[in-house]
Amino acid sequence: MAKRTEVAHDQLLTLIKRPRRLRASAALRDLTAEVQLHPRHLIAPFFIVPGRGEEQPIAALPGVRRYSVDRLLRQLEQALALGIRAVILFGVLPSSLKDAQASCADDPQSPVAQALRAARQAFGNDLVLITDVCLCGYTDHGHCGVLTPTPRGMAIDNDASLRRLTAMACAHAEAGADIVAPSDMMDGRVAAIRRALDRRGLTMVGILSYAVKYASAFYGPFRAAAGSTPQAGPSRTDGTLAPTDRQTYQMDPRNSREALREAALDEEEGADLLMVKPALAYLDIMVKVRSISTLPLVAYHVSGEYAMLKAAAAAGALEEPAAVTETLLGIRRAGADSIISYYACEALAQGWLG
Ligand code: PBG
Repeated sequence: MAKRTEVAHDQLLTLIKRPRRLRASAALRDLTAEVQLHPRHLIAPFFIVPGRGEEQPIAALPGVRRYSVDRLLRQLEQALALGIRAVILFGVLPSSLKDAQASCADDPQSPVAQALRAARQAFGNDLVLITDVCLCGYTDHGHCGVLTPTPRGMAIDNDASLRRLTAMACAHAEAGADIVAPSDMMDGRVAAIRRALDRRGLTMVGILSYAVKYASAFYGPFRAAAGSTPQAGPSRTDGTLAPTDRQTYQMDPRNSREALREAALDEEEGADLLMVKPALAYLDIMVKVRSISTLPLVAYHVSGEYAMLKAAAAAGALEEPAAVTETLLGIRRAGADSIISYYACEALAQGWLG
């Protein structure tokens, strides 16, 4: 009796399944790694300002600068040399060029339009040129759409905003964008942009929809960089103030079913790629969107997420290379095919991603 118990006990100790076997060497770990980070998985964001010779540091985003078109070209060349295949461009205007209708948004001479033409001429089809399509950097009130007075105060006029957004998307497409990326969160913008592009014969210009974009506190440094913080002022016409946040158009962080609805709508409307934004606080959303769509999925590792890592690294609280790699891997593991990150060029230049 005693002997039998001993045998059973021994068998229990004989572990058949030992997950540690596959962790025993770097080569074994590499062999069995489920996700990778390759330069092609990264999309580098750039802020573009008017003028020449401009390289403006951004206090809220250490290591990131705003460039005029001439200086941008050097940066794009370096990005290409690092293996980057896609960039997303954001225009930044002085307040003197902003107005209630975002008049400069569809100007063929806007900084973004000029950057597109210059980049296409310099790099041909080697670099995928994506542009952010949104009015917030172009309106004097900093909202992503145009405002209209209503009985309940100033409000975003969804359908009037669509007209300005489609004009902006077409201006970018005509200047050479491969992909336009509407980030405004107006209803129906993907369909409206698709229709407008097709009418102009721009049928091969793609749409990367910021389909699932939350009203997030993590956009703070971006708004400082782009001068796009929403204001109550100067477009108020009747004394009623506009909201100073984006909660009437960006998504409520309490929701996840709504993310699936937004993603499905944008896919139906003709989006070619979908985005989830921000990344880290919404990895559950990434997993869910991945499971309902066959479209390529892009994650935006946003400005606040970058700034947090930079601040923690500067404070000596964590090791930046490993923390950045782990963060980007987590986003890939959740299902993102590619990641927009302010770390894209730095991480590759420093060899952090292996
Ligand atoms: C424009 C836009 C924003 C971001 C990308 N496009 C700001 C916002 O919605 O307020 C944020 C990106 C970031 O934080 O890095 N609407």
